[in-house]
Amino acid sequence: MKRIWIAPSVLSADFACLARAVTEVAEAGADWIHVDVMDGHFVPNLTFGMPIVAALRRITSLPLDVHLMIEAPERYLEAFARAGADRLIVHVEACPHLHRVIQAIRGLGLRAGVALNPATPLSALEEILPEVDQVLIMTVNPGFGGQAFIKRMLDKVRRARRMIDTLGQFIELEVDGGVGPENAPTLVEAGATVLVAGASIFEAPEGPAEALRRLRRVVESAHVK
Ligand code: DX5
Ligand code: ZN
Repeated sequence: MKRIWIAPSVLSADFACLARAVTEVAEAGADWIHVDVMDGHFVPNLTFGMPIVAALRRITSLPLDVHLMIEAPERYLEAFARAGADRLIVHVEACPHLHRVIQAIRGLGLRAGVALNPATPLSALEEILPEVDQVLIMTVNPGFGGQAFIKRMLDKVRRARRMIDTLGQFIELEVDGGVGPENAPTLVEAGATVLVAGASIFEAPEGPAEALRRLRRVVESAHVK
Protein backbone atom coordinates (compact mmCIF):
# COMPACT_ATOMS: atom_id res chain seq x y z
CA MET A 1 0.00 0.00 0.00
CA LYS A 2 1.36 3.40 -1.00
CA ARG A 3 1.90 6.02 1.66
CA ILE A 4 -0.16 9.17 1.07
CA TRP A 5 1.47 12.44 2.05
CA ILE A 6 -0.60 15.47 2.97
CA ALA A 7 1.09 18.78 2.20
CA PRO A 8 -0.78 21.86 3.48
CA SER A 9 -0.07 24.89 1.30
CA VAL A 10 0.77 27.92 3.43
CA LEU A 11 -0.44 30.18 0.62
CA SER A 12 -3.84 30.21 2.33
CA ALA A 13 -2.47 30.59 5.87
CA ASP A 14 -2.55 33.82 7.84
CA PHE A 15 0.87 35.27 6.98
CA ALA A 16 0.83 37.36 10.14
CA CYS A 17 0.78 34.14 12.14
CA LEU A 18 2.65 31.79 9.83
CA ALA A 19 4.56 30.01 12.59
CA ARG A 20 1.34 29.23 14.45
CA ALA A 21 -0.34 27.97 11.27
CA VAL A 22 2.55 25.62 10.48
CA THR A 23 2.82 24.36 14.05
CA GLU A 24 -0.90 23.69 14.12
CA VAL A 25 -0.92 21.54 10.98
CA ALA A 26 2.34 19.86 11.97
CA GLU A 27 0.85 18.81 15.29
CA ALA A 28 -2.28 17.58 13.52
CA GLY A 29 -0.15 15.27 11.36
CA ALA A 30 0.87 17.16 8.19
CA ASP A 31 3.59 15.29 6.30
CA TRP A 32 5.15 18.08 4.23
CA ILE A 33 4.73 21.86 4.07
CA HIS A 34 3.99 23.12 0.55
CA VAL A 35 5.43 26.54 -0.24
CA ASP A 36 4.22 28.42 -3.34
CA VAL A 37 6.77 30.80 -4.79
CA MET A 38 5.33 33.14 -7.48
CA ASP A 39 7.11 35.83 -9.45
CA GLY A 40 4.36 37.87 -11.11
CA HIS A 41 5.65 36.77 -14.54
CA PHE A 42 5.17 33.05 -14.88
CA VAL A 43 1.92 33.42 -12.94
CA PRO A 44 -0.16 36.56 -12.39
CA ASN A 45 0.56 36.80 -8.68
CA LEU A 46 3.42 37.55 -6.30
CA THR A 47 4.01 35.67 -3.08
CA PHE A 48 7.34 35.16 -1.36
CA GLY A 49 10.83 33.82 -1.81
CA MET A 50 13.88 32.52 0.02
CA PRO A 51 13.50 34.50 3.30
CA ILE A 52 10.13 32.87 3.99
CA VAL A 53 11.52 29.43 3.18
CA ALA A 54 14.39 30.13 5.59
CA ALA A 55 11.94 31.30 8.26
CA LEU A 56 9.82 28.17 7.82
CA ARG A 57 12.97 26.06 8.07
CA ARG A 58 13.62 27.50 11.51
CA ILE A 59 10.21 26.57 12.86
CA THR A 60 9.59 23.10 11.41
CA SER A 61 11.47 19.92 10.70
CA LEU A 62 8.85 18.77 8.17
CA PRO A 63 10.06 18.54 4.57
CA LEU A 64 9.58 21.83 2.73
CA ASP A 65 8.04 21.16 -0.68
CA VAL A 66 8.88 24.30 -2.61
CA HIS A 67 6.80 24.89 -5.76
CA LEU A 68 8.56 27.39 -8.00
CA MET A 69 6.06 29.21 -10.22
CA ILE A 70 8.77 31.45 -11.59
CA GLU A 71 10.52 32.04 -14.87
CA ALA A 72 14.12 30.82 -15.23
CA PRO A 73 14.11 29.02 -11.86
CA GLU A 74 17.74 27.94 -12.40
CA ARG A 75 18.77 31.38 -11.13
CA TYR A 76 17.55 30.60 -7.61
CA LEU A 77 18.03 26.87 -7.04
CA GLU A 78 21.10 27.26 -4.88
CA ALA A 79 19.54 30.02 -2.84
CA PHE A 80 16.45 27.91 -2.12
CA ALA A 81 18.67 24.97 -1.17
CA ARG A 82 20.57 27.21 1.23
CA ALA A 83 17.29 28.51 2.65
CA GLY A 84 16.36 24.95 3.61
CA ALA A 85 14.11 23.57 0.85
CA ASP A 86 13.98 19.76 0.72
CA ARG A 87 12.14 19.37 -2.55
CA LEU A 88 12.20 21.82 -5.46
CA ILE A 89 9.52 21.67 -8.13
CA VAL A 90 9.90 23.52 -11.42
CA HIS A 91 7.38 23.95 -14.21
CA VAL A 92 8.13 22.33 -17.55
CA GLU A 93 6.62 25.45 -19.17
CA ALA A 94 9.27 27.63 -17.51
CA CYS A 95 12.31 25.53 -18.43
CA PRO A 96 13.56 25.16 -22.00
CA HIS A 97 16.54 23.26 -20.54
CA LEU A 98 14.56 21.15 -18.13
CA HIS A 99 17.06 18.31 -17.99
CA ARG A 100 19.83 20.67 -16.90
CA VAL A 101 17.60 22.21 -14.22
CA ILE A 102 16.63 18.81 -12.81
CA GLN A 103 20.28 17.74 -12.72
CA ALA A 104 21.15 20.97 -10.92
CA ILE A 105 18.47 20.37 -8.25
CA ARG A 106 19.70 16.84 -7.67
CA GLY A 107 23.28 18.07 -7.66
CA LEU A 108 22.34 20.23 -4.67
CA GLY A 109 21.22 17.11 -2.84
CA LEU A 110 17.49 17.90 -3.09
CA ARG A 111 14.55 15.98 -4.49
CA ALA A 112 13.56 17.25 -7.91
CA GLY A 113 10.00 17.63 -9.13
CA VAL A 114 8.36 18.76 -12.35
CA ALA A 115 4.97 20.47 -12.53
CA LEU A 116 2.55 20.57 -15.44
CA ASN A 117 -0.07 23.26 -16.02
CA PRO A 118 -3.58 22.00 -16.80
CA ALA A 119 -3.17 22.56 -20.57
CA THR A 120 0.27 20.94 -20.79
CA PRO A 121 0.06 17.36 -22.08
CA LEU A 122 1.61 14.51 -20.15
CA SER A 123 3.78 13.76 -23.18
CA ALA A 124 5.97 16.67 -21.99
CA LEU A 125 7.18 14.25 -19.29
CA GLU A 126 8.24 11.50 -21.61
CA GLU A 127 11.99 12.18 -21.68
CA ILE A 128 12.37 13.60 -18.20
CA LEU A 129 10.33 11.16 -16.11
CA PRO A 130 13.21 8.76 -15.28
CA GLU A 131 15.19 11.73 -13.90
CA VAL A 132 12.65 13.09 -11.41
CA ASP A 133 11.54 12.23 -7.88
CA GLN A 134 8.13 13.77 -8.18
CA VAL A 135 5.52 14.86 -10.72
CA LEU A 136 3.06 17.61 -9.81
CA ILE A 137 -0.17 17.80 -11.76
CA MET A 138 -1.76 21.25 -11.50
CA THR A 139 -5.47 20.73 -11.02
CA VAL A 140 -6.16 24.47 -11.23
CA ASN A 141 -4.37 27.15 -13.24
CA PRO A 142 -1.47 28.18 -11.02
CA GLY A 143 -1.42 31.57 -9.34
CA PHE A 144 -4.05 31.56 -6.63
CA GLY A 145 -5.37 29.50 -3.78
CA GLY A 146 -9.03 28.65 -3.35
CA GLN A 147 -9.88 27.88 -6.99
CA ALA A 148 -12.17 25.08 -8.12
CA PHE A 149 -10.64 21.72 -9.06
CA ILE A 150 -10.67 21.20 -12.86
CA LYS A 151 -12.54 17.90 -13.21
CA ARG A 152 -10.86 16.89 -16.43
CA MET A 153 -7.58 16.66 -14.50
CA LEU A 154 -8.71 13.49 -12.74
CA ASP A 155 -8.14 11.51 -15.90
CA LYS A 156 -4.74 13.17 -16.32
CA VAL A 157 -3.79 11.94 -12.85
CA ARG A 158 -4.84 8.40 -13.83
CA ARG A 159 -2.76 8.56 -17.00
CA ALA A 160 0.22 9.98 -15.10
CA ARG A 161 -0.06 7.06 -12.67
CA ARG A 162 0.03 4.63 -15.59
CA MET A 163 3.10 6.35 -17.04
CA ILE A 164 4.93 6.09 -13.71
CA ASP A 165 3.91 2.46 -13.19
CA THR A 166 4.99 1.56 -16.72
CA LEU A 167 8.37 3.14 -16.07
CA GLY A 168 8.63 1.08 -12.90
CA GLN A 169 10.46 3.69 -10.82
CA PHE A 170 9.21 5.15 -7.57
CA ILE A 171 8.08 8.70 -8.32
CA GLU A 172 5.68 10.67 -6.12
CA LEU A 173 2.54 11.86 -7.91
CA GLU A 174 1.35 15.13 -6.45
CA VAL A 175 -1.91 16.96 -7.08
CA ASP A 176 -2.19 20.68 -6.44
CA GLY A 177 -5.27 22.91 -6.63
CA GLY A 178 -8.81 22.61 -5.36
CA VAL A 179 -8.06 19.48 -3.33
CA GLY A 180 -10.20 18.76 -0.27
CA PRO A 181 -12.08 15.99 1.50
CA GLU A 182 -14.69 15.76 -1.26
CA ASN A 183 -12.25 14.81 -4.04
CA ALA A 184 -9.20 13.49 -2.14
CA PRO A 185 -10.37 9.83 -2.02
CA THR A 186 -10.96 9.79 -5.80
CA LEU A 187 -7.56 11.37 -6.42
CA VAL A 188 -5.87 8.78 -4.23
CA GLU A 189 -7.72 6.01 -6.06
CA ALA A 190 -6.54 7.57 -9.33
CA GLY A 191 -2.95 7.17 -8.10
CA ALA A 192 -1.98 10.44 -6.40
CA THR A 193 0.47 9.99 -3.52
CA VAL A 194 0.82 13.63 -2.42
CA LEU A 195 -2.15 15.90 -1.77
CA VAL A 196 -1.52 19.63 -1.61
CA ALA A 197 -4.34 21.44 0.18
CA GLY A 198 -4.51 25.17 0.85
CA ALA A 199 -7.95 26.67 1.28
CA SER A 200 -9.56 23.39 2.34
CA ILE A 201 -7.24 23.34 5.36
CA PHE A 202 -6.42 26.93 6.25
CA GLU A 203 -9.82 28.39 5.46
CA ALA A 204 -11.87 25.55 6.91
CA PRO A 205 -14.52 26.75 9.39
CA GLU A 206 -13.47 24.03 11.84
CA GLY A 207 -9.86 25.29 11.77
CA PRO A 208 -6.73 23.85 10.12
CA ALA A 209 -6.00 21.08 12.63
CA GLU A 210 -9.44 19.51 12.44
CA ALA A 211 -9.55 20.00 8.64
CA LEU A 212 -6.26 18.18 8.28
CA ARG A 213 -7.36 15.30 10.51
CA ARG A 214 -10.57 15.02 8.50
CA LEU A 215 -8.64 14.94 5.21
CA ARG A 216 -6.44 12.18 6.65
CA ARG A 217 -9.50 10.17 7.71
CA VAL A 218 -11.19 10.32 4.30
CA VAL A 219 -7.94 9.49 2.52
CA GLU A 220 -7.32 6.51 4.76
CA SER A 221 -10.72 5.11 3.95
CA ALA A 222 -10.01 5.41 0.20
CA HIS A 223 -9.03 2.36 -1.75
CA VAL A 224 -5.28 2.55 -2.34
CA LYS A 225 -3.59 0.06 -4.62
C1 DX5 B 1 -1.75 27.43 -6.83
C2 DX5 B 1 -0.77 26.81 -5.87
C3 DX5 B 1 -1.37 25.89 -4.89
C4 DX5 B 1 -2.40 26.51 -3.99
C5 DX5 B 1 -3.42 25.48 -3.78
O1 DX5 B 1 -1.08 28.09 -7.82
O2 DX5 B 1 0.24 26.08 -6.57
O3 DX5 B 1 -0.39 25.19 -4.13
O4 DX5 B 1 -1.90 26.95 -2.77
O5 DX5 B 1 -4.44 26.06 -3.06
P1 DX5 B 1 -5.89 25.43 -2.94
O6 DX5 B 1 -5.71 24.09 -2.26
O7 DX5 B 1 -6.60 26.43 -2.13
O8 DX5 B 1 -6.43 25.27 -4.34
ZN1 ZN C 1 1.56 24.76 -5.29
